[in-house]
Amino acid sequence: MNINNNSENLAINNNAYQNILTRTSIRNFSNKPIKDELKSALLHAGMSAPSGVNKQPWEFILIDNTEILKQLAETLPYAKMTALAPMAIVVCGNSERFLEGDDSTLWVQDVSAASENILLAAHALGLGAVWTCLYPHPDRMESTSRILHLPNSIVPFNLIPIGYPSKTHAPINKWHPERIHYNHF
Ligand SMILES: Cc1cc2nc3c(=O)[nH]c(=O)nc-3n(C[C@H](O)[C@H](O)[C@H](O)COP(=O)(O)O)c2cc1C
Repeated sequence: MNINNNSENLAINNNAYQNILTRTSIRNFSNKPIKDELKSALLHAGMSAPSGVNKQPWEFILIDNTEILKQLAETLPYAKMTALAPMAIVVCGNSERFLEGDDSTLWVQDVSAASENILLAAHALGLGAVWTCLYPHPDRMESTSRILHLPNSIVPFNLIPIGYPSKTHAPINKWHPERIHYNHF
């Protein structure tokens, strides 16, 4: 078995697979508007994610109001690019659908899966996006909840600014075969 050769993986000619390998975080956007059809496709991708016990404990706030995008950018230290994005999605957890006991934090994995689906769908549709961190920072979560009028039961998880890329970069090489372990660590 020789799976240490990354070029073999890159040679796989499959659109979904190539989409995963070529996605990058995009932080610079043109002002080209995004059609409603694409906005809906992004949300559909998010909602198609797997979730523990199929709880789907997520809510999505789609923001395309310039004023609200600017307000969010002002208060969020690592999401300044939101001010120049035509839209953003805030992915949230709905605590009324969280599991209990040992599974009480499983929702974090569920909303992460939904978020990655949105990033990959954006890339597949010719858009660019970046995951910016809200949870678990109390200050970022508080300001986002205030600006978006979130009820107490809704936990803001991340903010994903989305737009047509005005600046792109090559994917970072993350292939580290030394981190792969066969049968035992
Ligand atoms: C949990 C998480 C939090 C992140 N938070 C931020 C953030 O607050 N601001 C930002 O610009 N990028 C953020 N990123 C994007 C990472 O910086 C980016 O994914 C990483 O540098 C790798 O680059 P790539 O996405 O282009 O492969 C975050 C990504 C993840 C998964």
